[in-house]
Amino acid sequence: MSDEWIKIAAPATSANIGAGFDTFGIALESPCEIIEGRKIESGFRIVEVKGPGADMVPLDPDKNSVTIAAREYLKLVGEDFGIEVKITKAIRPCSGMGSSGASAGGGAYLAHVLAGEKGPIENVIIAAAKAEGWTSGGFHADNVAPCILGGFTIIRSNEPLDVMAVRPPENLGIVAALPDILVPTKQARAVLPEKVALKDMVFHIGHSSSLVYGMMSGDIALIGRSIADAVIEPARQKLVPHIAEAEKAAMDNGAVSSCIGGSGPCILSFFDKTKTDGKAIADAVVKVYSDNGMKCDTWITSCGSGCRRI
Ligand code: HSE
Repeated sequence: MSDEWIKIAAPATSANIGAGFDTFGIALESPCEIIEGRKIESGFRIVEVKGPGADMVPLDPDKNSVTIAAREYLKLVGEDFGIEVKITKAIRPCSGMGSSGASAGGGAYLAHVLAGEKGPIENVIIAAAKAEGWTSGGFHADNVAPCILGGFTIIRSNEPLDVMAVRPPENLGIVAALPDILVPTKQARAVLPEKVALKDMVFHIGHSSSLVYGMMSGDIALIGRSIADAVIEPARQKLVPHIAEAEKAAMDNGAVSSCIGGSGPCILSFFDKTKTDGKAIADAVVKVYSDNGMKCDTWITSCGSGCRRI
């Protein structure tokens, strides 16, 4: 058995993107989590975790997204070797930037590479989504699908998994802003309504359909108009302090739209790279938080590739 360490880059992602709750997701070009691993005879071992939020990451392989996803993948493809891993976090947990999704996606992809990359990539997504379900309280592939496939992803169905990736326009820029608060996904799902009004359903069908059209036709203004949410974000706003001011500041400084990223507290703002470089958007959102005595990190990025060996 080869004991060569291999290294996987697993991107941050953001799920939902306006009206696409549990359905849409986007891979960010940066930041990326780095997962290193090598085959061992049996079992799973985590030998190192470093980077932002490392102290929040369980070292028990039965509770860690990387090793749960890797184990699920090996079970799915009928392999019985073990894996030893080192994790370099890029995104702290409870961010809305797919921290657990990057761990789960990267862990399943690592196992896929160590197993010889046999079988369809959907197996990697299924294994990673099972690990996500364990950590976040419900099987949803809207972070792990873009993490693995890259681009903007659409989940038509979770079971059986039917997912597709679309490449957004090259000039679509993204500012991810992360205020210094923790929002666990389980908590953010607990505040959601059980029922949705018919008019809100109609709103979501219209906006999600036009967002896909905007992504595929490269129409940034339409992408901007399409990112809106009548159900999920209104219920979650109370979990993200100053969200309305932050989104307004982003819009006043060149964003075409701004929304809660995933289950928050990330604030995701989209812009046209031919019109702005995104810095004014990032600075304006940071100012909202610094004026309120809070730290806020930002990444000025774009849509990126999925998991890859580096
Ligand atoms: N779709 C999930 C949610 C994503 O919003 O709860 C969690 O990152």
